[in-house]
Amino acid sequence: MQRFMPEPYRIKMVEPIKVTTREEREQAIREADYNLFRLKGEDVYVDTLTDSGTNSMSDQQWSAMMRGDEAYAGGKSYYRLVEAGQDIFGHRFIQPVHQGRAAEKVLLPIFLHKGNYAIANLFFDTTRAHVELAGARCLEACNPQALDSSLRAPFKGNMDIAQLRKHIEEKGASNIGMVVMTITNNSAGGQPVSLQNMKETAAVCREYGIHLNIDAARFAENAMFVKLREEGCQDLSVRDITRAFFDLADSFTMSAKKDAIVNMGGLLGVKDDKAPYIQQIKANCISYEGFYTYGGLNGRDLEALAVGLYEGLDEHWLRYRLQSIAYMGSFLDDKGIPYQSPAGGHGIFLDAKRFYPHIPYDQFPGQVLAVELYKECGLRTCDIGSFMMGNDPDTGKQLRSYNEFTRLAIPRRVYTQSHYDMVLDAIHVVWNNRENIRTGYKITWEPPILRHFQASLAPV
Ligand code: F0G
Repeated sequence: MQRFMPEPYRIKMVEPIKVTTREEREQAIREADYNLFRLKGEDVYVDTLTDSGTNSMSDQQWSAMMRGDEAYAGGKSYYRLVEAGQDIFGHRFIQPVHQGRAAEKVLLPIFLHKGNYAIANLFFDTTRAHVELAGARCLEACNPQALDSSLRAPFKGNMDIAQLRKHIEEKGASNIGMVVMTITNNSAGGQPVSLQNMKETAAVCREYGIHLNIDAARFAENAMFVKLREEGCQDLSVRDITRAFFDLADSFTMSAKKDAIVNMGGLLGVKDDKAPYIQQIKANCISYEGFYTYGGLNGRDLEALAVGLYEGLDEHWLRYRLQSIAYMGSFLDDKGIPYQSPAGGHGIFLDAKRFYPHIPYDQFPGQVLAVELYKECGLRTCDIGSFMMGNDPDTGKQLRSYNEFTRLAIPRRVYTQSHYDMVLDAIHVVWNNRENIRTGYKITWEPPILRHFQASLAPV
């Protein structure tokens, strides 16, 4: 089994966790209509629902917050954050926003409208929602390697370049409002994108004159994977690799709640600060987020974010981060438990289709596994599969996801190896009991968009 690198941090403050019984958990999940988003946080023992905004901040970040400048306009904290963003990403225009979907809300309608398309190596749920809210439609060009969870390939998150070209030729370049490169590729299992693939994608976008945006939520984990896996990149620093990616894009939208290790925040960047649409970004930001020098955040949040961007790029931290996830993967390998392998950057994506091959996609195997894990040990995970995909916006029909994953997204600097060991033992128990679970769930109520956050389910 893979050796575990000790956590490269010490604990300075603790938050006690409530211990629950199986009976209590069965009742809690029933009362939540089998939707883990609707559980009370205190009824969860290890919370891997998301790695987003669930991070522990460092002593440096907490200290930086003390100098937050709360001026409505032009505060010092804004300039510090802009400087950090320019320094790291090389984009000249940096716009703070309150989280990733806010960056999407501000940027996407400038490029997308009814009748055109966005293409991605895979959209995450909120990005898909904002493409559709702008009136456009999503097309995907996902690396076919990502469909086979047992296939070990270094860059399963890549854009399928042939498919990208095919979409562009079929719809016409003028009907493609934007190409989105998601790094790492969350829906594919936190799988990385190679620098080579980014270069090829950028070349296609240049050839057809299409705007290229990076969905940069996990840019640092992606860069570390490139350093560890891509030929010719071993001697580059994670900072260099990051810069190489962002140099190839016209803009980026970022949920800073992941790799920038804060609890709230986002960024929008544009490489060319003379781009004509920057005025529109500022106008949208003022309408939806707040004045453009705070973008829906407190001055102290801007400070924590400016520090977190650098901490998230620390190579010792990133080595630990990837190794702690790989440690979980190697346990699953030993037991023959299927997951998207090799392990991704921000978590483990269990292959629920192979836990429950007899449960059809529209009974949501990923959700079934999530509920079983919660009942077993109080672990909260989420479905990254057909339950998350939702319905086709035009026909209302349930979409079928490529994969049916149950995701353990690991918060940064929060849990320790013993939490992971407990979780792994529980996964093993649920795996051994898989044949006794015969049916899944049906939806008894759902809202029209992003339904998985709120929907009610019932056992079939
Ligand atoms: N893009 C990606 C790739 C994401 O993973 C997320 C959020 C967003 C955009 C939106 O960012 O939440 O700050 O508004 N992903 C979280 C998750 C919620 O659990 O994976 P946000």
